[in-house]
Amino acid sequence: MARRFRLRPISGDAGVASEAPNMIDRREFMRHSFNTAAGVITMASLGAIGFASLLMGQADADGGDSSVRFWVPTGAEDSAWYGDLHLEQMEFQSFVDAAATSTTGMAGASGVWSGLPVNVIYVPHDENSQTTLEENKPRFQFMDGYNESGAYVGSGYEVNEKPEYETLSIHDNMIIIFSRCPHLCCIPGWQLVANDFTSDQWSPGGGDAGGNKLFCICHSSRYDPTVIEKNRNRNRINGSEFDFIGVKRTGGPAPMGMPLIPFEVNGGIIEALDDFKDWYTFCE
Ligand code: FES
Repeated sequence: MARRFRLRPISGDAGVASEAPNMIDRREFMRHSFNTAAGVITMASLGAIGFASLLMGQADADGGDSSVRFWVPTGAEDSAWYGDLHLEQMEFQSFVDAAATSTTGMAGASGVWSGLPVNVIYVPHDENSQTTLEENKPRFQFMDGYNESGAYVGSGYEVNEKPEYETLSIHDNMIIIFSRCPHLCCIPGWQLVANDFTSDQWSPGGGDAGGNKLFCICHSSRYDPTVIEKNRNRNRINGSEFDFIGVKRTGGPAPMGMPLIPFEVNGGIIEALDDFKDWYTFCE
């Protein structure tokens, strides 16, 4: 039976505080909260509570193992290529097949791993990385990361240079991203809404131009899932800072990008690894 959570009122949210406690099924929450038009309405009505605290450490459902499962947001059943695969284990080949139908050779999907919202992105890196950089020839790019004050934090190249990041080395033309927006913790999606940022296009350089951005509909933050950088974030409760390897924020109010989750392809199934759990605490 799906677990249900009591939503506590937050300060300044009189509408919630004056009513009987809301109860929400974790599956209902996830299904409505990925950044579709329907999802953002749910986010607005619930307020900015500590959603990650509801999700972290709940591996008994919505995955329950190391496999990453498709998560079909409300309203995307007919539009997303994985619309009929809700809660099915992600098979690597399904991304290869979906990518073959796109202009850029990229494919992405919303998913859930141990109760955490993720986006899984396939990029034809091996095919394109030895050719000249050009439009619509996507590959992973490794760039420098700077904190909110503009100070240099580190380089995305560290995934290939530092042993502690070894499990994040690019492989299988794929990355997995922990998908909570560092602005106010909405859940960005990939091609779940249609605009210039989400169109099936790619431009090199890690800027805001081109399409195929992860897009947060709450306040329009954008992230380039092909740019790997090192950056810094903090746990909002205790203030402790941590450096992480993640994808780059290219625009909008989010102060930095979102962290990667290491994974393996095991028997054709995408399975995530929990090497960097601290990186997923910034909405705590
Ligand atoms: S919560 Fe994502 S832009 Fe505000």
